[in-house]
Amino acid sequence: MEIQDIYQIAIRYAAEKHAVLNQTLPDSIIPYAVHLSNVAMEILVAASHTKNFNTEFAIQVALLHDVLEDTTVTAEELSTEFGIEVTAGVEALTKNTSLPKDEQIIDSLQRLKTSVSEVRAVKLADRITNLQKPPLSWTNEKKLNYLDEAELILKELRGTNEYLEKRLELKIEEYSRYVTDSKY
Ligand code: NI
Repeated sequence: MEIQDIYQIAIRYAAEKHAVLNQTLPDSIIPYAVHLSNVAMEILVAASHTKNFNTEFAIQVALLHDVLEDTTVTAEELSTEFGIEVTAGVEALTKNTSLPKDEQIIDSLQRLKTSVSEVRAVKLADRITNLQKPPLSWTNEKKLNYLDEAELILKELRGTNEYLEKRLELKIEEYSRYVTDSKY
């Protein structure tokens, strides 16, 4: 199967699962699938700059990265549709919500560190696409936390993908303009 066909199958599946729950981008009517497509786009561009990169695998993980965390899809269902490797990748990107909120990112990064580089690349791509102009409803504190978290992701996932790390550095710098804090 060509990568374009793999892309279409994965985005249709994920888009539908998020759409039945009426999920949109924050403070917007734009369907959630736009976020998924943005992450996949980052992965496709990064793939063209990266040696030994499994693009077919990474693109599926990118498009499906939020279905376990945000929709009713179970790991078993996902595995039936997309296989165990893709499912393991998505699971590594899924927060353990039974933990206290401030421990979730640490736990998630620990699990990502033992994942293949394509899965870690999706985490970088996810944060890159999310560091656009913040929603108007976000407080300065929330933006600051988000920025700190982005720096933690960059630090902990160093050595994953040079191209995406550079992109994330740039996005962190740009995003700091929306935040009021002496540190930035
Ligand atoms: Ni995401």
